[in-house]
Amino acid sequence: MKQLYFFTIAFFLSLAGFAQTDSIEHKVNALVQKMSLDEKVGQLCLKGTSSRSKGLSDELKDQVRKGLVGAILNLTDTALVLQIQKIAVEESPNHIPLLFGRDVIHGYKTIFPIPLGLAASWDTTLIEKTSEIAANESYSRCINWTFAPMVDICRDPRWGRIAESPGEDPYLASIFAKAYINGFQGNNLAEPGRILACAKHFAAYGAAEGGRDYNTVSISQNTLRNIYLKPFKSSVDAGAATFMTSFNDLNGIPASGNTFLLKDVLRTEWKFRGFVVSDWNSVTEMIPHGYCTDEKDAALKAASAGLDMEMTSQAYAHHLKTLIAENKITIAELDEMVKNILRIKFRAGIFENPYFEGREKFALLDPASLALAKSAAIKSFVLLKNEKNILPLTVQKKIAVIGPLANAPKEQLGTWIFDGNKNDSQTPLTALRNMYGTENINYVSGLTYSRDESQAIFDQAYKAAKKSEVVLFFAGEEAILSGEAHSRADIRLPGAQEELIKRLYKAGKPIVLIIMAGRPIVIEHLLPYISAVVMAWHPGTMAGPALADVLSGKENFSGKLPVTWPKTVGQIPIYYNHTNTGRPADSTSFVGIKDIPIEAWQSSLGNTSHYLDAGYTPQYPFGYGLSYTRFTYAKTTIEKNTLTKVDSLIVTTTVTNTGNRIGTETVQLYVQDVTASLVRPVRELKAFAQVELKAGETKTVRFAIAVSELGFYNNEGIYLIEPGTFNLWVSANAADGFKQSFEVK
Ligand code: NOJ
Repeated sequence: MKQLYFFTIAFFLSLAGFAQTDSIEHKVNALVQKMSLDEKVGQLCLKGTSSRSKGLSDELKDQVRKGLVGAILNLTDTALVLQIQKIAVEESPNHIPLLFGRDVIHGYKTIFPIPLGLAASWDTTLIEKTSEIAANESYSRCINWTFAPMVDICRDPRWGRIAESPGEDPYLASIFAKAYINGFQGNNLAEPGRILACAKHFAAYGAAEGGRDYNTVSISQNTLRNIYLKPFKSSVDAGAATFMTSFNDLNGIPASGNTFLLKDVLRTEWKFRGFVVSDWNSVTEMIPHGYCTDEKDAALKAASAGLDMEMTSQAYAHHLKTLIAENKITIAELDEMVKNILRIKFRAGIFENPYFEGREKFALLDPASLALAKSAAIKSFVLLKNEKNILPLTVQKKIAVIGPLANAPKEQLGTWIFDGNKNDSQTPLTALRNMYGTENINYVSGLTYSRDESQAIFDQAYKAAKKSEVVLFFAGEEAILSGEAHSRADIRLPGAQEELIKRLYKAGKPIVLIIMAGRPIVIEHLLPYISAVVMAWHPGTMAGPALADVLSGKENFSGKLPVTWPKTVGQIPIYYNHTNTGRPADSTSFVGIKDIPIEAWQSSLGNTSHYLDAGYTPQYPFGYGLSYTRFTYAKTTIEKNTLTKVDSLIVTTTVTNTGNRIGTETVQLYVQDVTASLVRPVRELKAFAQVELKAGETKTVRFAIAVSELGFYNNEGIYLIEPGTFNLWVSANAADGFKQSFEVK
């Protein structure tokens, strides 16, 4: 009876869904029929105002009045937004409201950790909540479209945009993509407080050569599909309203003119129903790329490839009408682009609610939002080293607080902060003074900013260290050293930070290194000077209280690395889910540079794939992170060792907290397809679970993974699940665990 009841409800809900889709299609078609050619082209134009600009030009108002604009970005004065919206709604020929876009990447006013930091929490519910708050705050300021989430997989920490990324793993990135989109859009885009999400940058932007931004991407179809496209597919499945193309070319064709990506994959295969926007000028940048002769050619190639809306450059505005007159673009093609945009405008409810009604109920920097920002920061921190359990600081009375990031309210916010305000930031220095008493904190910045080369205040810093029991050194990168166009070839601590650490070491006090940065930082050569290392990323508004809580032991660490941490820049790219060579490196055969005799006979040494001087292992593997307690894994049980393609792999493990305080462990499940028709990664993350365990407590963790999830795409784009042996590990990180195996028939 109950079942019948649910069935009936589900049936009517799905009918309602169809009815809504039908009525939207009806409205879209009716509207397009009434629109002039100029107005149609207008819908495809996203006009930029600079992120700092104030005011509305008469030219823009006039264009909106004539229906020549579909959306505006970076207009942040709410009065101006409402003013221009009124012109669109009341004066433009068909009264079509505008979309207002903005880069709200990890919070609007309440700034959460940078996305790479949020990824280190491995907490999808948390990510969803942070993006919901970001959406609510944005909506309250008349923004209805964010250019997020950025779901580019990145295997190169030199690339500045790794800070915005979900890290290196396609599974993790895919579930985070869904969480971000759910948080921004909710179940109903038209609900006040929800905003359109934009999955970006489509596609493979994170594979830019050498980590140089905007650079060439040349990868096989199997790497593209098995690694880089996965989070985008997940974004379509999660209902992302919009997609943004990337700046790079993919195997020779710039993404904004790439028919394979935009039509074959996105529309035909994945059935995407939203619209695709270009990146900033990426349509006309196809000219310097060497793919288009001029602006008109760029408009033709972008439109033919399936790019719906052009951001800031004006190739569509200037040339689409001529291209139609010349029969190079058909009216049907143009209508399709316009409909893609209007469909989303209707779904977002902006025809009914163009003036952001209900926005007053969403407060900026609400206490609950700040509490969430603090807990997000705590969950993002990764404890990388803790020699002799120097942390938590429970016995020390006098603490030296040193370093350029200890009291840097702007820098702790990280990259892509257009609207975050440094005056809202709570810094580590203030929080530690509050916690331990100002008289117990000996603060000297030592360096005034991260790139500072001056040693003028080193002596003072040394004295502060000398009269303290422990040194908390807040190191890292200013916010501007990561993010777009901020790649670095040398990813050690910039400025004279290393020199300062070495100087402080001479004071003979243990040093705790807290890194705030947009990427992993090379620290191998510094480790001998340092007792503990905390990766804090750029933690956002609540960095200070969050750090004070974990350093003092009030809270525990639970973050795990979403990227492999290199020992040296020469190892990059280094990532856990690489494939094997015919000569895989291992400890038994490895020969280091110091082990080679003088005038050694020509030989291939250890015969494996490694560096003589850097070996083959990273500093810290993917998935790694320590806690104030310890977790022990019991042997894993695989329910059925032989499975068919329609079965599920059922795996159970018990995990025990063998330390003496409560903690949360992220239990990771990795799989390897041992032999296949294409070489497969040595390990791939397929599932994980977070368990909170009290001291001494044991819990059973059960995983169920459909065998269909264990397949891969070949170079023809065909998805295969091949029979054979698979290895499996349930472990605390990607370099840990006992290997077991099972068969797929
Ligand atoms: C360029 C960036 O690549 C993109 O991520 C951003 O959304 C746009 N500019 C708009 O600011």
